[in-house]
Amino acid sequence: MAELTVRLGSAERVRARAPVDLGAVERNCATLKRHLGRAHLCAVVKADGYGHGATSCARAALAGGATWLAVATAAEAAELREDGIAAPLLVMGALTGAELEVALDAGADVVVWTEEFLRAVEATDRPARVHVKLDTGMHRLGTPDPDVAHRLVDRVAARDGLDLVGVMTHFATADEPESDFFDTQVERFRPFAEDVKRSHPGCIAHAANSAAVLRSEAAHFDMARCGIAVYGMDPFGQNPSLRDLEPALSLHSYIADLKELTPGESVGYGRSWTASTQTRVAVLPIGYGDGYRRGLSNAADVVIRGRRFPVVGTISMDNITVDVGDAAVAVGDSATLIGADGGERVTAEELARTLGTINYEITCGVSARVPRVPLRS
Ligand SMILES: Cc1ncc(COP(=O)(O)O)c(C=O)c1O
Repeated sequence: MAELTVRLGSAERVRARAPVDLGAVERNCATLKRHLGRAHLCAVVKADGYGHGATSCARAALAGGATWLAVATAAEAAELREDGIAAPLLVMGALTGAELEVALDAGADVVVWTEEFLRAVEATDRPARVHVKLDTGMHRLGTPDPDVAHRLVDRVAARDGLDLVGVMTHFATADEPESDFFDTQVERFRPFAEDVKRSHPGCIAHAANSAAVLRSEAAHFDMARCGIAVYGMDPFGQNPSLRDLEPALSLHSYIADLKELTPGESVGYGRSWTASTQTRVAVLPIGYGDGYRRGLSNAADVVIRGRRFPVVGTISMDNITVDVGDAAVAVGDSATLIGADGGERVTAEELARTLGTINYEITCGVSARVPRVPLRS
């Protein structure tokens, strides 16, 4: 996709578009790097860069100070390599035998936590860069047994063709400031990481996600794997500007039609909203087929000409309706569903709160039907 330099939020009649500000991605990485000091920043660009576009965000993150990238799947690693991304690249997820081959073909690092998977890596008879994962309490990926982890480390280090690159863990509650389980996990990982690094000085230790980076220097170790904050969203679900993060993605549509409603008339499927006064309803050609979730029916605001207006009626697959009253708005006006216009901003965090979910799901949920438009502010 060509990189465009356009004014953020510029009015264009496109039914649904998602500008992605790569300048913001770059600056968010610089902000994270300032927190990290000497520790490396690994930008997590899985799930198409949390819905922002993996390759363009990977480039922006590297320009902003990231030196590593991480994805969840082998196919995601292969795609980045096909696009010419050469940085160290970690595939964090579980891999089948076929996926392992794809990851190694891509020259990506893989994560080992069972004897069985290490045997599969050895059986490929190919050079591989390996990270060993200790499960310190997430109880998802990783071995919970430090002795098993040490045995895997020693076997990787001793084997020709295998390179012991790192040891890692992942936090379950870094984004819950009151949780002391985070500290428990840090203290379970630390002695393991220190032991490994004593016998294998080139090996790096990494544990922190975005929340952990912002929460505690004790969790930084040699590298942090940050996703959500790279895209300018707040890992604690608060206003991103409180932590100097700049949301990179916005979501826009336009007013395709204006309907006059008299009191008692309803709008949309199921007649879930009825006008109580004479009013006008703006029809925007965007809906849950674009990832603007149906749960936002009668529960969210859209910004038009720098003013918030409420979404009224049930969100359908391809259209939403907004009560604009007698405001000076017109057919063709740009409408902002996520992002800023004038002094108003609708954040992914705000929509997530309304939906009882997290900001991650909001941007990942913007569907493939919506063109991402890379730009630079
Ligand atoms: C293993 C691992 N590390 C790091 C991250 C990045 O986390 P965040 O987006 O909260 O920074 C993720 C994302 O879920 C992950 O699964």
